[in-house]
Amino acid sequence: MSAANATAGSPPLTVDALRCEGLTKAFQGVHAVNGAAFEVPEGKITALIGPNGAGKTTVVNILSGAMSSDSGRVFLGDTEITNWPAYKIARQGLLRTFQLSRELGGLTVLENLLAAPAVQAGDSLVNVLFRPGLVRRQERENAERALELLEVYRLYRHRDTRARELSGGQKKLLEIARAVMASPKLLLLDEPMAGVNPALIEVIGEYILDLKRSGVTVMMIEHNLGIVEKICDHVVVLAEGRTLATGSMSELRSNTAVVSAYLGEVINAGAAH
Ligand SMILES: Nc1ncnc2c1ncn2[C@@H]1O[C@H](COP(=O)(O)OP(=O)(O)OP(=O)(O)O)[C@@H](O)[C@H]1O
Ligand SMILES: [Mg+2]
Repeated sequence: MSAANATAGSPPLTVDALRCEGLTKAFQGVHAVNGAAFEVPEGKITALIGPNGAGKTTVVNILSGAMSSDSGRVFLGDTEITNWPAYKIARQGLLRTFQLSRELGGLTVLENLLAAPAVQAGDSLVNVLFRPGLVRRQERENAERALELLEVYRLYRHRDTRARELSGGQKKLLEIARAVMASPKLLLLDEPMAGVNPALIEVIGEYILDLKRSGVTVMMIEHNLGIVEKICDHVVVLAEGRTLATGSMSELRSNTAVVSAYLGEVINAGAAH
């Protein structure tokens, strides 16, 4: 494990669950990500913030294997996972939420959880043919776990509803529940509270804190700085594809570069968008 804050002779204060260096990605010659480098400390909640178009989603796409980078390196613990395919990264315990896709919208809420990208014994033809008992047992266990998670995420009574018929807030809860179904060690959330009412923002914040308490490392993209301040331990500021600063929210407030590039804009606007 690589360690930040390590000094000779004393144990490391934090261990990085995930680390990237020099990430770049250009679309039609325009750099969306341009040298991003940061650490995600294990067991903590890290916020990835920055103006619209800063490259936050592109970074999450690269870290989770949904998109390849042009250059740079990504490490999950001690393992280099640069440009690994998403399924292989997911098997190492790194999951991310996606906005509900059109296909998944047609499935029921319960089916969505059962289709989560967990490693399933039934996916292997060898298991289906020669170990049907194992496949049946795992299917039963998956169904039990899915129903438990739907209880936790207040979706149980909607289990047979088509996902596209859920409210915006319920869709956000379903996105998180789908990722949790796969028992992640590290979870990347892209704006888990976007477009959600203030009461549900608090509820989703509590769910994220619960995930941290259960040992999951979280990194979330979020524009709502109030909730970032409340639940996040560590903040990474991205601007024009580069890491502008990292630290606690109070450290960032006293960083003039960050205030002029991002926080000032938000503060002057009177509220986080
Ligand atoms: N698939 C793509 N093809 C072309 N350009 C893209 C693609 N994805 C992102 N971009 C561009 O890359 C830049 C960074 O986009 P990205 O979505 O990563 O920003 P973001 O920080 O997540 O913004 P927001 O806060 O608005 O979600 C933007 O200029 C965007 O238009
Ligand atoms: Mg984005």
